[in-house]
Amino acid sequence: MTKKLTTEAGQPFADNQHTQTAGSRGPVLIQDYDMLEKIAHFDRERIPERVVHAKGAGATGVFELENDMGKYTKADLFSGAGKKTPIMMRISQVAGEKGYPDTVRDVRGFSIKFYTQEGNYDIVGNNTPVFFVNDPLKFPDFIHSQKRDPKTNRRTQDMQWDFWSHSPESLHQVTYLMGDRGLPASYRTMNGYGSHTFKWVNKDGEQFWIKYHMMSNQGVKNISAQLADKLASENTDYLQDDLFDAIDKGDFPSWNMYVQIIPYEEGLKYKWDIFDVTKVVSHKDYPLIKVGKLTLNKNPENYFTDVEEAAVSPANFVPGIEPSPDKLLQGRLFAYKDTQRYRLGANFEDLPVNRPLVEVHNYERDGAMKSDNQGSGVNYEPNSFDGPKEVPNAAIKHYEVEGMAGNQAYSHNVDYTTQPGDLYRLMSDEEKDRLIETIKDNLGQVKKDEIKILEIKQFYGADKDYGTRVAKALNMDIDEIMNSENFV
Ligand code: HEM
Repeated sequence: MTKKLTTEAGQPFADNQHTQTAGSRGPVLIQDYDMLEKIAHFDRERIPERVVHAKGAGATGVFELENDMGKYTKADLFSGAGKKTPIMMRISQVAGEKGYPDTVRDVRGFSIKFYTQEGNYDIVGNNTPVFFVNDPLKFPDFIHSQKRDPKTNRRTQDMQWDFWSHSPESLHQVTYLMGDRGLPASYRTMNGYGSHTFKWVNKDGEQFWIKYHMMSNQGVKNISAQLADKLASENTDYLQDDLFDAIDKGDFPSWNMYVQIIPYEEGLKYKWDIFDVTKVVSHKDYPLIKVGKLTLNKNPENYFTDVEEAAVSPANFVPGIEPSPDKLLQGRLFAYKDTQRYRLGANFEDLPVNRPLVEVHNYERDGAMKSDNQGSGVNYEPNSFDGPKEVPNAAIKHYEVEGMAGNQAYSHNVDYTTQPGDLYRLMSDEEKDRLIETIKDNLGQVKKDEIKILEIKQFYGADKDYGTRVAKALNMDIDEIMNSENFV
């Protein structure tokens, strides 16, 4: 049956085509509250876009646990093979605004919200296993260099290479980004990574460092820069539409979830700093162990409520999963819910997409737009009215910290060239050709030679062939560059 049109307060709405006027030619009557309400609501339709990862596509589905992980974590979602946990995933661009073309070279965000029996657990990662910076203080500057110039309002190669050339820790991620993975053919054909090291704790209190890998069952497929440019002008929403259309026709994308598990003490002494997100941990040293499968099988009914209002956060942990000391991760623990209180409002966790499956009982109350305010329950603790009680076995596992407090850089085997060099050396000849061509097209636009020189020194430090080829592609002399003074 056709539904009656109503106002927001539920009154019948008499005429949705004609405003109340004095005479058929106007003027408009201020008493026409139906028209005023409709316009006033429209005036407030936009909320701030995400400060990063503004453009994205989302869907819901299921995570099926294939191997019981109880030996390593007490987390309920990873215990009992066959267990199914509903999920919501959002895959995104990083730098561009909400209307930006999908096929512009960028890292892609890969976030998963698991609605578990112990509350929500989120993995908020990317399609690359490393990141550009490893200190949260540097993140806003990094992002400014990716966004628009304050004067011209343009995105420029000058800004981003200026930042990277002065931030040698970015080289590993820059090599990924300039390589084939910077242009995925589809959100379905890219892998996802938790990127940071996290901590798992089992029922006996044993601790393990772990890293997440979500491997696409559609295979990893990328597109050429030429095709990406063409698609950017033909359909700015290319990747979003591809995901939606595949799910719509029942071609459900899936990813196998694996973890690398690193025993606690070994992790602290490992050759690389496992808490430095610019580094990967060798699969030979710690092989991938299958955990389960993520499948997306339902498109959003309403993009705004199901995707735009989604608030994922690296601070959403469940018992048995904890942060590692990784400095960038620690900074992120604050950033997400902070931005979400600003972007969506103080009570953003009440929004349907963010509600956990389990009931929420605590002593938080009120605030703008509060909907479930926990009724007449007691709103302070301690109390003698049988209010909600703490759950001591959900406490984090105590662990030792050491050293002097103060502003300090990473110090455990600081080496920002070997792993990017390994990545370069792993590439086929054709991949290397495309990488050099892409760097030529991008770094080649930079006006200041100093920036090019600093960056080429980084490439050369990673692999002599890498640096020499970039220099040649930019018509620069590698010997002159390497003999120049400002070595980073
Ligand atoms: C989104 C901050 C590093 C992946 C965001 C948002 C903020 C933010 C403020 C918007 C969230 C929202 O409005 O809901 C930061 C800070 C970082 C950092 C301060 C470093 C200190 C990273 C890293 C990764 C990452 C290392 C991946 C490994 C993502 C993803 C999203 C996102 C996937 C989109 C989430 C969604 O789908 O809604 N970040 N970020 N970020 N970030 Fe980060």
